[in-house]
Amino acid sequence: MQENTPPVIEIHGLHKAYGDLEVLKGVDLVAPRGHVVALIGSSGSGKSTLLRCANLLEESQQGEIVFEGEPIAWRGAGQGRHPADRGQVTRIRTNLSMVFQQFNLWAHMTILENVMEAPVTVLKRDRAEVDARARQYLDKVGIGDKADAWPAQLSGGQQQRAAIARALCMEPRALLFDEPTSALDPELEQEVIKVIKDLAAEGRTMIIVTHDMRLAADVADHVVFLHLGKVEEEGPPEAVFGNPQTERLRQFLSHTAHA
Ligand SMILES: Nc1ncnc2c1ncn2[C@@H]1O[C@H](COP(=O)(O)OP(=O)(O)O)[C@@H](O)[C@H]1O
Ligand SMILES: [Mg+2]
Repeated sequence: MQENTPPVIEIHGLHKAYGDLEVLKGVDLVAPRGHVVALIGSSGSGKSTLLRCANLLEESQQGEIVFEGEPIAWRGAGQGRHPADRGQVTRIRTNLSMVFQQFNLWAHMTILENVMEAPVTVLKRDRAEVDARARQYLDKVGIGDKADAWPAQLSGGQQQRAAIARALCMEPRALLFDEPTSALDPELEQEVIKVIKDLAAEGRTMIIVTHDMRLAADVADHVVFLHLGKVEEEGPPEAVFGNPQTERLRQFLSHTAHA
């Protein structure tokens, strides 16, 4: 079945600059349905930028982005290029849910309200139906008892699990994680890693930016090593971690703690 479905997200030859600073220099990335892609690389290599370009939180100047076989329509070119179809942008953004390093929960809303917010206001779903679903996802990530708590009353690991429940409650086609465990103490990291592993085992499509090579090796079907805005090397985790081909990847792996 997977062979017949287009990848959830495909990126071809993507270029992105901030002013004169070229951050992505022709990047390709494919996330087939049900696959986990780990994106690794040094700080500043463009990982977050690539993730934000993929769900159109950032604009890009050249290259194609294809969501489930549907190419993004652009108008203009280069620095003047923008998505042409707002409906398409909303569809893609709501279907590629992001989980950020800093959780980004609304401090003035309870955990349940945080999880319900986008499905109710953006997707216009029925409140009672979303309420039931939100509670299920909070149970799933192990914090069903925190529905009525405020974000500040939760540990970092619990807040990040709430952020994952919030992303899941959109019922997206893929989850995009940007260093989901980087802000956490090691013991809290594990509870978030467990949730991510469970989601991978369920066959969810995910792109995970991580500095945790063990997590990447454990959950990824495909690992992409980004270096200075280009894909320097990629492949199955056994190859990327077990038999790196480029000097840059060898150096990078020798400097990472969990390699
Ligand atoms: N909003 C921005 N404005 C200008 N430069 C940026 C912005 N965001 C990121 N950059 C620059 O783009 C490069 C890649 O950043 P980023 O994608 O955050 O890398 P990574 O996530 O791999 O650490 C860095 O040089 C960073 O300073
Ligand atoms: Mg980053």
